[in-house]
Amino acid sequence: MSDPAADIARVLVSEEEIRRRVSELAEQVQTDFAGRDLVVVGLLTGTLMFLADLVREIDLPLRLDFIGVSSYRDGTESAELVFTKELKLDVNGRDVLLVDDILDTGKTLRAVIDKLNGMAPRQIRTCVLLSKKARREYDIPADYIGFEIPDEFVVGYGLDYAEKYRNLPSIGVLKELAVSRER
Ligand code: IMP
Ligand code: MG
Repeated sequence: MSDPAADIARVLVSEEEIRRRVSELAEQVQTDFAGRDLVVVGLLTGTLMFLADLVREIDLPLRLDFIGVSSYRDGTESAELVFTKELKLDVNGRDVLLVDDILDTGKTLRAVIDKLNGMAPRQIRTCVLLSKKARREYDIPADYIGFEIPDEFVVGYGLDYAEKYRNLPSIGVLKELAVSRER
């Protein structure tokens, strides 16, 4: 078995940097949502590590749920979004913190926000670990952003390339991608 870390060309965000920034985000969320009926909604699967670290540092009586959404690309630029797991909790009248691993074009968050809005929450705020501003196509209000990163494909700390590398503890750029934008 080859070592997945050996496929990383360089680390972009270290474990220590992630830890520090996640603490700061948690503190902001805690301040902003104090006294609210908070439901944290994570998008599967990439938010696994981020969400686990974030919510453990939020000292509020929150609820936790997940939405599954996958994009099936056909080798071209077009990608169809398919919901693979629906929300279980009722968010009607509640404050939703929608968490994703990375905000790229914004297509995913746009679709999820539109869906959640149909459930009449009191408000929806978005929290992403990473953001690639240069790639944005949809106007998404990202209320909490961990790190702005350059237009490079990254893996680790939950982020995958063809479902691999999610278990790497830091975020890095892959060596020589065989396929340029397979997600
Ligand atoms: P968007 O819909 O274009 O904003 O893309 C968001 C989704 O694409 C994220 O939830 C990720 O699953 C995936 N994605 C975008 N950029 C990257 C990356 O650099 N590495 C891994 N996944 C990415
Ligand atoms: Mg994803």
